Amino acid sequence: MRMLKRHQCFLTLPFLCLFVAASVCFANPRPDKRVSFNQNWRFRLGDAANAQDVGFNDSQWRQLDLPHDWSIEGEFSEQNPAGFQGGALPGGLGWYRKTFSIPASANGKLIFIEFDGVYRNSEVWINGHYLGKRPYGYSTFEYELTPYLNYGPKTNVIAVKVDNSQQPNSRWYSGSGIYRNVWLTELNPVHVEHWGTYVTTPEVSEQSATAVIKTKVNNDSKSAAAVDLTTIIQDARGREVARGSEKGVATSGSHAEISQTLKVSAPVLWSDERPYVYKIISQLEQSGRIVDRYETPLGIRTFRFDIAKGFILNGKPIKIRGTCNHHDLGSLGSAVNTRAIERQLQMLKEMGVNGLRTSHNPPAPELLDLADQLGFIVMDEAFDIWKAEKTKYDYHLDWDQWHKRDLEDMVLRDRNHPSIFIWSIGNEVEEQWKGNPEAGTISRELVAIVRNLDKTRPITSACNFVSRENKLITEGGLDLVGLNYSHTKTPQFAEMFPGRPIIGTETNSSLHTRGSYMMPSDEILRWPRKLEDVLKLSPVYECSAYDNSATRWGSGHEETWKLVKNNDFFSGMFIWTGWDYIGEPTPFPWPAVTSYFGIIDLAGFPKDAFYFYQSEWTNKPVLHVFPHWNWKPGEKVDVVAYFNNADEVELFLNGRSQGTKRKQGDDMHVFWRLPFEPGVLKAVSRKNGRVVLTKEVRTAEEPARIVLVPDRQAIKADGMDLSFVTVRVVDRNGTLVPAADNLIKFELTGEGSIIGVDNGHQISHESFKGNQRKAFHGMALAIVQAKQKPGRIVLRATSGNLAPASIVLNAR
Ligand code: GAL
Repeated sequence: MRMLKRHQCFLTLPFLCLFVAASVCFANPRPDKRVSFNQNWRFRLGDAANAQDVGFNDSQWRQLDLPHDWSIEGEFSEQNPAGFQGGALPGGLGWYRKTFSIPASANGKLIFIEFDGVYRNSEVWINGHYLGKRPYGYSTFEYELTPYLNYGPKTNVIAVKVDNSQQPNSRWYSGSGIYRNVWLTELNPVHVEHWGTYVTTPEVSEQSATAVIKTKVNNDSKSAAAVDLTTIIQDARGREVARGSEKGVATSGSHAEISQTLKVSAPVLWSDERPYVYKIISQLEQSGRIVDRYETPLGIRTFRFDIAKGFILNGKPIKIRGTCNHHDLGSLGSAVNTRAIERQLQMLKEMGVNGLRTSHNPPAPELLDLADQLGFIVMDEAFDIWKAEKTKYDYHLDWDQWHKRDLEDMVLRDRNHPSIFIWSIGNEVEEQWKGNPEAGTISRELVAIVRNLDKTRPITSACNFVSRENKLITEGGLDLVGLNYSHTKTPQFAEMFPGRPIIGTETNSSLHTRGSYMMPSDEILRWPRKLEDVLKLSPVYECSAYDNSATRWGSGHEETWKLVKNNDFFSGMFIWTGWDYIGEPTPFPWPAVTSYFGIIDLAGFPKDAFYFYQSEWTNKPVLHVFPHWNWKPGEKVDVVAYFNNADEVELFLNGRSQGTKRKQGDDMHVFWRLPFEPGVLKAVSRKNGRVVLTKEVRTAEEPARIVLVPDRQAIKADGMDLSFVTVRVVDRNGTLVPAADNLIKFELTGEGSIIGVDNGHQISHESFKGNQRKAFHGMALAIVQAKQKPGRIVLRATSGNLAPASIVLNAR
């Protein structure tokens, strides 16, 4: 038996044996001791004097469950101080209160409250006692409540003030409120510290992997305790594959770190294609009784960024085919919902994406869990701003006091996720410009903060000043050169930054509106700066969904991917963006309020570029032909096809061949220019003369009926699960009517509710929270959430004289 003292380490004796199964969710590292604290809060928008006091009367306040984003419930207005860049939704100040009791049996335990994220400037009180403030809206933080709690019948009040009134403070839509999950953790005095494990795999071979697990054990009791730490590794099916135990004595008040080395034989490696996640269970025993159990994900993989070959995962060079994404969930705003995040990631995977950049801030923990399980290579990013402001009230005001803490908290929280491969300390920070030496100084400080907590991943910073004059790149101590844009210089990047591995931290900024087409399709329109020129090009505030529309600094999808694909040294790219998001509607100002950058629109409907990537990045057979087939007679129309697994595509118009096309040179699509005549366009892809796929696009007649298509018909009756129901307005033959903008009204009965509606239209100011939505280019979306009671949910959609539709969902 050995004494455990502050920061003392001890070694372990690993051995192998078989054990039983468990689940694979790590967003909650203590499933039995850390419970959701989301239910039954009271909320008031606006300030309230003394709302932190226990005796304050909140009975008139609105009752709600978290996560909650009050901005998304508001109305779009040009007057809202976030401006159209921030989504033109209201900010403001709000209060949350929750009255709760703690059973007498918990006396003697330690109680903590943890907020995954509050936007922003949260201040928290327990029973009138001030616990603290966190300005940054994307940090996860906890407070200990123990000394201030009442146990038994006497209740407690937690009060949270959230101040998002000083605006603008963000370049995109942030949302406002306690928008991520809240947890209550009850611990024994001897326990694993918050974020108290750290796992690395210094040796990995086909035969075996070494996992070094460092566990911080706290003894917050008044006496020394004999403590056994048993660390178990389970495979993805819950079978034990390694175990190590260590006995020791934790002195009173000690915070000891115990290091154990376990071996996993014949490890299954984690990869983007096969994201295999082991589970580490750290079990603390005192006098034969388990006092704490803490779970940590483990992914075993090797990787490096090579100067010549780019990104190498488990010995194999692969391209990072990533997208950047902001955190909002469309019509749900920023309020976290695991299924909504999962849907976003699943659709990206379907498109062939294998990388995510959490632009430009630490994400919800659930996203990283899903990335571990679905196989994404994540670049976890800390900041969009350092000391120098981008918007008047942004994080630069908090920088001096908070940057170290916020950065440390990100790394401590996230460093066990196998999906994380890159830390980013910033995005296009203002300090990068004009040879400013502060870029180097601040960067080196941040790099040291990260390295102190994790040396296993390279550190980068996303720079759009692609120059040797950029001292962030040349003097910032970064491991990986992260470049945004300047795509035409891609082949020269390696010479510009010799001896350094390079990645495209941000690329593209293509601009598309789903279902909107401007010709010619084969010339990229880089949108002008002046509004009058922009509006001359599109008075309806739409950008073309052919791959022919981009920002002045950006590039087309095919154009960019060719450069990335053909330059081996270039590790990969993170496209701006996978999904549309709220705010930043470049190239338009108000009344546009949501972005055009996404490959998938805000409602979750793929734009045509989705199929471009699918044809390049996946092996599933793709044949996508567009645009729609409703044009003016005689008008020349460009027809484009994306396809793979085939040599050629033949196009027929009303049965007449328009020619067979093969991809020329390094082209990644084929196209025809035809005079329009109504009828049927049919594309046939062939390989070695044999038909692979056929696709038809038909001229639509008048809107005749509604079709509802749920993404899932059966959902969990857990009060959170969702079914995303696509609305299609079709003609009497079932063809989508591309211009249909009918107002769809929803009625729902049964054990569910509609929590969001959308259509992906970037200038729509309809409420995301209503029971109706106009179709946009023939489509709309209703998001149905289950209640906590199993049962049937009937969703009916009507619209004037269109034939209505209804579907039945089952919550179980
Ligand atoms: C980048 C920036 C992103 C987004 C994008 C739009 O420069 O990093 O946050 O603003 O431009 O093109």
